[in-house]
This record gives sequence, C-alpha cells and structure tokens, in this order.
Amino acid sequence: MELPFAESWKIKMVEPIRKSTREERERWMKEAHYNVFQLKAEQVYIDCITDSGTGSMSDRQWAAMMMGDESYAGASSFFRLKDTITRLTGFNYVIPTHQGRAAENVLFSHLVKAGDIVPGNSHFDTTKGHIESRKAVALDCTIDEAKDTQLEIPFKGNVDPKKLEKALAEHADKIPFIIVTITNNTAGGQPVSMQNLREVRAIADKYNKRVVFDSARFAENAYFIKTREEGYANKTIKEITKEMFALADGMTMSAKKDGIVNMGGFIATRWEDWYEGAKRFCIPFEGYLTYGGMNGRDMDALAVGLDENTEFDNLETRIKQVEYLAKRLDEFGIPYQRPAGGHAIFVDAAKILTHVPKEQFPAQTLTVELYLEAGIRGCEIGYILADRDPVTRENRFGGLDLLRLAIPRRVYTNNHMDVIAVALKNVYDRREQITKGVKIVWEAELMRHFTVQLEPVK
Ligand code: F0G
Repeated sequence: MELPFAESWKIKMVEPIRKSTREERERWMKEAHYNVFQLKAEQVYIDCITDSGTGSMSDRQWAAMMMGDESYAGASSFFRLKDTITRLTGFNYVIPTHQGRAAENVLFSHLVKAGDIVPGNSHFDTTKGHIESRKAVALDCTIDEAKDTQLEIPFKGNVDPKKLEKALAEHADKIPFIIVTITNNTAGGQPVSMQNLREVRAIADKYNKRVVFDSARFAENAYFIKTREEGYANKTIKEITKEMFALADGMTMSAKKDGIVNMGGFIATRWEDWYEGAKRFCIPFEGYLTYGGMNGRDMDALAVGLDENTEFDNLETRIKQVEYLAKRLDEFGIPYQRPAGGHAIFVDAAKILTHVPKEQFPAQTLTVELYLEAGIRGCEIGYILADRDPVTRENRFGGLDLLRLAIPRRVYTNNHMDVIAVALKNVYDRREQITKGVKIVWEAELMRHFTVQLEPVK
C-alpha cells in the first residue's frame, strides 16, 4: 500500500488557542462593528485573516536569530541575507525594508511619477496604492479567465500578453516598468507560468522596458511551475526560482509570506542605476542601507527562511494543506476560485448568499456568519475592499465578491482545516435563510475595509 502524505516537519513548540461560545462571539462581533479587523486575536479560534507574518519559524530560523549582528552599519547579518538573495535570484543589489509595501514605497519613489502607467496582473492593494498615490495608473492586464471562478486552468494568474502589448504600443513613453505579481494574490493565489513570464520579457525587450516581480509568494509560484508546467517536473525549486528571476530586472518582496518571517521585506535588482536611485529613499524612509527597517536577527531568520522555503518538501506540505481544505469544500459543494491557490481558498460568496443583494455585501456577510458559527476569521476580498470609485463615489460592484481563507504557513493541522470546512458547510446549509446582509455606518475614504463600521440590515 502506498504510504499516505504527511507534513515534512514535526512540532517542537505549541501555542494554545481557545474556543468561545456563540453568545460571546455575537457580543464581540457587535463590539467590532461587524468588521473582523476590529476583533481581538484572542477572540478568534482559527485565524485565516492572512498568511502574512503569521507563519511558524523553524528551529533553524530561531537558532539563526541568536547570531544576529545588530551593528548599525555593515552588519554581518545583512551580508548573509544579501548573499542568500543573490544566490537564489541572481540579483546583486539588495536593499532591506521593514515589509513589502515599504519596498514598493522606496523603489517607486525612484521610478514612478505623475501621469505614468504601470501595467501588471492584478496589482496588490498596497502596490496599487503606491502607484495611485503618485498620480499614476495601475493598469490591470490579467487574463479574463481569472474572473470565472469555476474555470479550471493551471495558470490563472497570468498576464494577458495582448493587453500588455496594447498598453505598450499605445503608451510606451509613459510606462516606467511592468510589474508581475507571483503568485497573483488578488486573483486567488493563482500562479503565473514560466511561459507567460517569458512572453512578458519578450514584450518588455521589444519596447526596451524593465520588469519587476512582486515576489511575495515566488516560492509557491515555483512549486506550481514544477508540478503543472511541462518540462519542469525534474527541476528543483531553486533552479526554477533562478530561471524565473532571470526574466526580471528586479523584485519587491514582502518577506512575511514566502520568507516565513513575521516582519521584513526587501528590494533586489541587477541594475546599479535602480539601486542608486532607490538608495536615496531607503535612508530617509527605512534606515541605513544595511538594515533598512530590519533587525540583524530578523535578517538572519529571513536568510534561513528563504533557503528552507525554496525546498520542495516544505512547499509540498503547504500547498497540499490548501488543497486538502479545497477537497473538503468540494465534498460539500461549496464554490471557490478554482483550482485552489497557493496560500488561500477564495470562497465565492456571491454564488452562495444569492438572496443577499450586492448592496448588502454578501462576502462580508459570509465572513461575519463564519465567525459567528465557529470563531473562524477569514477576510472579505470583495465589494468593501474595492472601495468607492474615486470620481463618482459609487461602490464598485464590478469585480468578484469573495471570502478569503488564508492559511498561515506551518501553523494549523488538517484537523483545523476540517473545522473550517464543516463550519462553512453549516453556514452553506442555511444559506437560503440568509436574506439580509450588512450596511455601512462609517467608512474611511481610502482602504476602508480595515476600519469600516457595519450593522446588520434589519
Ligand atoms: N504584494 C503582495 C502580492 C501581497 O500579498 C502583499 C501583502 C504585499 C505586496 C505587501 O506586503 O504586507 O509586507 O507590506 N499581502 C498581505 C495579504 C497583507 O494579506 O495578502 P506587506
């Protein structure tokens, strides 16, 4: 008999978590204005709000922290991190930052100016924010297939080469660079194929443009290339990683995801002029060039994390857990963005709460219901997150309305996945009775989902 699959690690330290009663959760949710960001973490049983900074470090990472060099300038921790990044990506210039959005802020301060257009595949919110706040446009060139949640294709995060080519043909002079997000978080943690990265490179070369990878989940992307794309089955994750980055000019990185640290990020590039340009903004925004917002010990933990997470076994354990949750949802017929992505399951709330009008935010309603059911915290990636149109001030109902269940790395077991799946099934089974959603009573002008205050519609 073939041996079953099991995790590629064992557990050395545990953190107790606590269940709560429905009555407690109803009170807490009300106090939190029906916004899960306003809950206290101790009011949550299983926390799937994000996979960012919530992973579990290994014994080797903790050990490396003890070797951290906290020198202000020239710390050996920086050079260990830089050497690891150069070995994995081929990029010689590295600037540490305190997290991913800080890397965007520093690099884009050098590269993006008012009137520019930055084409890419579903820019992440902060990426978009750092482009739009400079009065430039983040032009989404993701393939149309990504919008059909039930369509199963292997690389649903891809850039549409036709859309990209059109953008360059029409606006080449306004485009400072192209950005490709690997994996494509907003489209559901969906990967981008090597073939697609090559196509983007070819278009960039034709118009003499550079390419940045938003690399928060690059290792998961490499795993999907190995397991789904022809010709890569026998290559190592490290070989695939090198090949991917050979097609880029630089990267911004949120190390809180595939670096498996709780805080950190960096910029890396092969170009001295980009390094020199970004350097000028690192010092005032982040700190001196050899720490840029990170402790020495954190840079050491990150160097080890990057090495560990570019090994197949570690990634296989992770992606198989997300797949496991997806299979449980399949058993219950619960619709989500297919196929399962790398870091999360994106439940298609609009297809479940069909009696809740879009003006009453079905995905947010489902997020609240799942919390009330079992203390599980997901997060809405839908109409509230989409904010209002900056000109008309109308809600934007054009995109998908999803509940994201992000799975932290090396934190929960498949028993926890079972609890999530069954809790969601219980809500799903009473979906016909859920006819009313939530209404906004207070909201911020931008990025409202963090602080929005809601009330159930009576
Ligand atoms: N790029 C991508 C693709 C991301 O998913 C994130 C963060 C960032 C950049 C920004 O990095 O948080 O370190 O500043 N995503 C988190 C999430 C917050 O929950 O998806 P950061």
